Amino acid sequence: MHTASQIQPLSPRDRAIGLDIAREDPGAALERPVQASPFLKWVGGKGKLIGQLERHIPQGSLRYGEVFTGGGALFFHLRSQGRVQHALLGDRSLDIVNALTVVRDQPGALISELRGHELAYLSSDAEGRAEYFYWMRSRHPAEVEQSDVQRAARMLFLNRTCFNGLWRENASGRFNSPHGRYEKPAITQEPRLRAASQALQGVALVQTDFRAWPQLARDHGLDFVYLDPPYHPLNATSSFNAYSGGSFSAQSQADLAEVCGELDRMGVRWLLSNSDCPFIRDLYGRWQIDTVWAARAVNCKAESRGEVREVAVRNWK
Ligand SMILES: C[S@@+](CC[C@H](N)C(=O)[O-])C[C@H]1O[C@@H](n2cnc3c(N)ncnc32)[C@H](O)[C@@H]1O
Repeated sequence: MHTASQIQPLSPRDRAIGLDIAREDPGAALERPVQASPFLKWVGGKGKLIGQLERHIPQGSLRYGEVFTGGGALFFHLRSQGRVQHALLGDRSLDIVNALTVVRDQPGALISELRGHELAYLSSDAEGRAEYFYWMRSRHPAEVEQSDVQRAARMLFLNRTCFNGLWRENASGRFNSPHGRYEKPAITQEPRLRAASQALQGVALVQTDFRAWPQLARDHGLDFVYLDPPYHPLNATSSFNAYSGGSFSAQSQADLAEVCGELDRMGVRWLLSNSDCPFIRDLYGRWQIDTVWAARAVNCKAESRGEVREVAVRNWK
């Protein structure tokens, strides 16, 4: 465990690993607060936990990295506070990174595309809506050629109209949530997308596995990294991590603890969320482990909703 962050100089190598679509580092421009919130509904989204997580985040302005961005609730929160001096957001999901990129760079085109879906969907009867949803779901980008904007619009449309707003993928990475039947889903949400686009200006985005992050943190001179992986299941039937397109195995959790160890040796401060179980407490035993309480709303069985204990692990006092 270290006590002070040592900021590495920024490397000119911006295209480190995977699809790095970073633009120039605008420095101070990013620190101007922009009020924005997640535009994707995401399983395990951290929106409701921000108040508790905030206590475990270093004070002041940050060179911020988020490894498992998903909806990016913590990023948007810190950005709204004007505390982000530089940001690198990553995720292994190409759909997420593409959506973030399109929102950042082409919000107008995305909004027009979404309006088209909204009109077609909302003007249909129940049967027509279901048909439209399943037709869109079947148009997988691996099979149906589509532009980045069309791909992002497909993802947002499905995210807004599927059951529980739950982006769930099967083992081969195919979105497979059923249709949701909301009466008037907000499909376009122009103000939210415009605000998110503003907040993402100057932010670097990378589609990559978490194992690439020590190098990325070095290249981007990060001084704080948030890690919110698919949680280790509390029991064999718990499937909270099924949405991640395959399993995030116990070995992945152990590899992630290694990555945290490497970031620690580099002098990068970090905060990690995970489920509260002996396996995770063992992996992170040498660091500071605090308990947080989360409302668990991603369970089919109403009786198993309610509060669950999670851990917030950090590597500084
Ligand atoms: C719990 S969600 C993150 C939720 C996010 N913090 C929020 O507030 O919305 C986990 C994310 O990890 C991503 N992911 C899964 N396996 C990964 C891996 N091996 N490397 C990087 N990202 C991964 C998933 O695509 C998913 O977006």
